[in-house]
Amino acid sequence: MNKLRKIFNEKFSDTGLAKGAFSAPGRVNLIGEHTDYNEGFVLPMAIDKKIIMLGQLRNDRLVQVFDLVYKTKIKFSLDALSPLRKDTWANYLMGVMDEIQKAGYPLQGANIIFNSNIPQRAGLSSSAALEVVTALTMAKLNLLEIEPVEMAHLCQRAENNFVGVACGIMDQYVSCLGQKNYALFIDCRSNDYDLIPFKDHNYQIVICNSKIQRGLVDSEYNRRREECKVAAKFFNHKLKREIRALRDVSIDEYKKYQRQLPEVIARRARHVIFENYRVQAGVQALREGNFLAFGQLMIESHQSLKNDYEVSCAELDLLVNLALKQEGVLGARMTGAGFGGCTINLLKREHIDAYKETIKQGYKKITGIIPDIYVTPPAEGAKVLELR
Ligand code: GLA
Repeated sequence: MNKLRKIFNEKFSDTGLAKGAFSAPGRVNLIGEHTDYNEGFVLPMAIDKKIIMLGQLRNDRLVQVFDLVYKTKIKFSLDALSPLRKDTWANYLMGVMDEIQKAGYPLQGANIIFNSNIPQRAGLSSSAALEVVTALTMAKLNLLEIEPVEMAHLCQRAENNFVGVACGIMDQYVSCLGQKNYALFIDCRSNDYDLIPFKDHNYQIVICNSKIQRGLVDSEYNRRREECKVAAKFFNHKLKREIRALRDVSIDEYKKYQRQLPEVIARRARHVIFENYRVQAGVQALREGNFLAFGQLMIESHQSLKNDYEVSCAELDLLVNLALKQEGVLGARMTGAGFGGCTINLLKREHIDAYKETIKQGYKKITGIIPDIYVTPPAEGAKVLELR
């Protein structure tokens, strides 16, 4: 924070107006993958990697941003917001400001600086964190009352409309509303949420970064969304009630009609429908402190993402397989959109060191890559930091 403040003072002159520091975390999803845009259930948690932003209001409509990740400075007006082709990271900030204004909130310009320790393009939602921290910074400095759920939706719209990525609501939601030692159970239709305790001295979530980044993510993500729509439309036609999304289809209904669906569509639907059940079973297991059952659900989730939804990749499968051979690993699965990024592993605490060693060696032997491993309890969502 001191470093950030020092650089802020070097880059910008004091406007004498409101100033503040804010943060927003990345996330992992414990279970419930590719269910959010099917109006289903998810269970993510915020992680202790975050973006910190420092901002001060200006007397005009100009926004100046210096970022310590790419070390670039950009300047734009709140009256002329349109996506950039270069320095595309700025689109997340511009998109959020655009959506805040479109929602009818007045904004003044600002000088902004930010830094991040969330690995990028690793599936840990550094972009959602950047959107959320921007929204919080602008809301607080401009004295706007924006509730966290509204803020999450606003950030999602920024990503959909301005950045052009058709993501669901999960990442922004948990970055806004995460809580220390709790996972966040979200109903992505009603937007209701529940905090699920995730603290046990014996168990720990360990994140393993495959360091694989696939360009395929966006196009395949959009294709999966379309396939789910096709499946929902089919069930809407077959069943004698309204099916708005795959969330509305039960396992029995699926089993009854699955053979009438094209094979690929049937597999996509099976993943989503069963995954929604797994999330609910997972919540129940955590409430009972049954980590063994939760681990089993993680394993099933990964198999389904690999075989039915086809969003895993060889490296993620390798990490999961290596993990499951390790003593003390209760569950392992890919997390996030897929095609690279991270796995999450549920481990007995005393086996973490051995896990790290063996996974690093095993993964390197086959891929030549040393994976990064992070151990993190569920962390806090976006917040105001003290500026001392
Ligand atoms: C990405 C999206 C989320 C969600 C996940 C898959 O992280 O941003 O909205 O769809 O993929 O579960």
